[in-house]
Amino acid sequence: MKQIKIEGNNILTGEIKISGAKNSAVALIPASLLSDGIVKIDNVPNISDIDALDEILTYLGATVKRTDSTIEIDSSKIENKEIPESISKKLRASYYFMSALLAKYKKVEMYFPGGCNIGSRPIDQTLKAFRLLGATVIEENNKYTITAEELIGNNIYLDMPSVGATINAMLVATRAKGKTYIYNAAKEPEIVSIATFLNQMGAKILGAGTNHIEITGVDKLNSCFTEVIPDRIEAGTYIIAGALVGDNLKITNIIPEHIESLTTKMKEMGCNIKIGEDYVIVSKKDNLKPIKVQTLGYPGFPTDLQQPLTALLTQANGLSILEETIYENRFNNVKYLNKMGAFITIEGKKIFVNGPSNLKGKVVEATDLRAGACMVLAALKASGTTTITQIEHVLRGYENIVEKLSNVGAKITLEDI
Ligand code: EPU
Repeated sequence: MKQIKIEGNNILTGEIKISGAKNSAVALIPASLLSDGIVKIDNVPNISDIDALDEILTYLGATVKRTDSTIEIDSSKIENKEIPESISKKLRASYYFMSALLAKYKKVEMYFPGGCNIGSRPIDQTLKAFRLLGATVIEENNKYTITAEELIGNNIYLDMPSVGATINAMLVATRAKGKTYIYNAAKEPEIVSIATFLNQMGAKILGAGTNHIEITGVDKLNSCFTEVIPDRIEAGTYIIAGALVGDNLKITNIIPEHIESLTTKMKEMGCNIKIGEDYVIVSKKDNLKPIKVQTLGYPGFPTDLQQPLTALLTQANGLSILEETIYENRFNNVKYLNKMGAFITIEGKKIFVNGPSNLKGKVVEATDLRAGACMVLAALKASGTTTITQIEHVLRGYENIVEKLSNVGAKITLEDI
């Protein structure tokens, strides 16, 4: 078990370079199985979620070569066997293997995926898409056996713009006969990135990034090289750190358009933020204004930045109201922010944050990935030392977080306990 200790209220200055996006890399890697050749992906973040995918690929018999930021996958000799629950439950993205293996072999056996404990996370839309494309799905004791004699294109109407269901449907439709139309598709940059990747391998996908995607199935996908897009959630997290304790903190290697929903809200709060072509410079400011925020699918405010933003809302002058519309239980950070001196109440899907608060260092827990990121941000602002336990959750998604923050002046240490 690991924990992080942060001595707060130190000014952060200098540059933080953003890594490749976790939620893009974790889809590109399973999707590489669709290729009959070798796939090379650059700018892959060095985080434990990628290690878990590597473990699944290696278990299936793929040859995986990794350097610091590159992964090369040769899946020509894989064996399509049941993926044990002990590995698939390590992360949500394991369910991209469901669609990749179904697309390639017309059969897959695996268990319900894992992921952060932030409320129920059904996969009914993914299973609906598989069925519409010709598969039979049998579920028994959390295990799914999905088979198809033939995969045939169809119209798929998603009940909600699910990121996972959009990607899973795209992967299977790429190898289905004829045309598939996905309506009410998710529009996240990660969807565009996976469609571009598949098209480079020879797929025929149009409309990714809009709510209507058209896919014409192909028989074969080839070798390809791609680069993971910058992580907009990691970028947003460090931009918030800059607004809390930054002095010209420069966040580089970003696509500013991907985080416009955050930077717009921060400007509304009165934050001192300058946006460049591929960077943001941010400094702390007092007397921030309270805001109202609602999480939505892209290009709305991302649920993954809701908890990090809450750390900043504790510093605004007055009452901020934040509504979570995607997940049913993504407020596990609130208890610990209040322990540090915040004043936040939860009412159903909304939280009411009364600021400004003098945060004080305490022992708190990273209950999940983004709740943990929120605690890191609160600790950077707080007086005294904060200990954040269960920090493994944060290490799943933030590459070299300790080094990145130390390099710009944070007093932060990672300890084994
Ligand atoms: N939903 C359903 N049925 C479905 C699919 C979704 O009811 O079949 C509902 C559920 O309430 C679910 C919500 O819609 O919880 C969001 O589901 P979605 O499929 O959009 O999300 P996901 O694919 O499970 C990805 C990211 C999440 C991110 C969401 C939303 C990965 C591995 N995970 O999850 O990232 O919050 O999209 O943007 O890409 C994180 O990084 O901290 C994280 C949780």
